Amino acid sequence: MRRLRRNSAIRDLAAQTRLSAEELVMPYFVIEGKNKREPIASMPGISRLSIDNLVDDVREIKKLGIKAVLLFGASRRKDDRGTESYRRDGVLQKAAAAIKRNAEDVVIVTDVCMCGYTSHGHCGIVKTKKPVTSNQKPEKHIDNEETVKILAKIAISHAEAGADFVAPSAMMDGQVGAMREALDKNGFGNTGIFAYSAKYASHFYGPFRDALGSSPKFGDRKSYQMDYRNSDEALCEIGADIEEGADIVMVKPALAYLDVIARAKAVFNTPLAAFNVSGEYAMVKAYCEKPETRNQKPEKNLVLEILTSIKRAGADLIITYHAKDAAKWLKNL
Ligand code: PBG
Ligand code: ZN
Repeated sequence: MRRLRRNSAIRDLAAQTRLSAEELVMPYFVIEGKNKREPIASMPGISRLSIDNLVDDVREIKKLGIKAVLLFGASRRKDDRGTESYRRDGVLQKAAAAIKRNAEDVVIVTDVCMCGYTSHGHCGIVKTKKPVTSNQKPEKHIDNEETVKILAKIAISHAEAGADFVAPSAMMDGQVGAMREALDKNGFGNTGIFAYSAKYASHFYGPFRDALGSSPKFGDRKSYQMDYRNSDEALCEIGADIEEGADIVMVKPALAYLDVIARAKAVFNTPLAAFNVSGEYAMVKAYCEKPETRNQKPEKNLVLEILTSIKRAGADLIITYHAKDAAKWLKNL
C-alpha cells in the first residue's frame, strides 16, 4: 500500500477526494448602517457587516473562486410574529439586491426563517393551548401551518430582492412545498430552493445564535428540529423535500453527522450540501488559539482536513465560515 504514498506527487495523483473553492459557500451576517464591522466574540475572524462592507467582501471572495454566499439578516426590530422578516426594505432583502447590483454573477442564497426576527427567538409562530382541566398548565407550541404561510411570504420577498436560492431553515413540515408553490404563483419559477432538509436540534449552533441574538427565550427547538439519535428520519426529511421541489438538499451540522451525509448521498441524486456550522468553526478556532498548540500553526491543515472529510463523506457543496480562508489556502496564498 505504501507505494502510492511514496511522495506528494504520487499522493496527489492517487487522491480520491479533491477540494476546490467552487464548492464552498460563504455565510454572512448582515446589519443595518454604513461601514460597520462588528466582530462576533464567539466566532473569531467573523463579523457582522453592513451592506457596503458586505459587497466589498463578496467581491473579494469571488476573486478567490467562491461562487455562492448564504445571507443571514440581523434584525433589531423584533416582535412576536417576526414581521420584519418579509419587509421589502429589510436588511437581508437590501443586501441581496446590493450584491445583485455590484457582484452580478455571485450566487445568492438567503436563509428563510423567523428566529432572527421573533422576540421569543423561535423559528415560527408561538401559540398557547389553553388548559382543559385546572391541573393542566397552558402549553406553548409552534404552529406549523401559520408559520409555513409566513415562510412563503419571506421567500417571495427574498426572490423579489434577487435571491437565486431561498433556503428554508425552520424545519416546519411542508415548508418546501409551500414555498415552491408561492414562488411559482408569483412569477419566480427560476428561484431555486436550497433546503435545510435534515437539520438537527444541535448544540453546535451557539455562536450563530450569539451572532443573531436568536436563542429561544423559552424551551428549545426540539419539537421541530431533528433528534440527533436518528438517521432514518433524515432520509425521510430529505426525500420529502425533494418531492416538494427542493433543488439542493442539506445535512446540518456536518462533522458530527458524516454518517448522515454518507447515507443521504447513497440514496438521493439531488445535489447534497453540508453545513459546517458555527460551533464547529468555533472549536477549530479555540484549538488554534490555545497557547499550547498555537505555535504548531495548525489551522490551514486542520481546516483542509475537515472540509475534505465532509466532501469524502458525500457532500457536493459545503457551507462553511472557513470558506474565504480555505479558498486562499487552496490557491496557496
Ligand atoms: C436559523 C438557523 C440556524 C442556523 C442556520 N439557520 C440556527 C438555529 O437553528 O438556531 C445555524 C447555523 C450555524 O450554527 O452556523 N434557523
Ligand atoms: Zn430559525
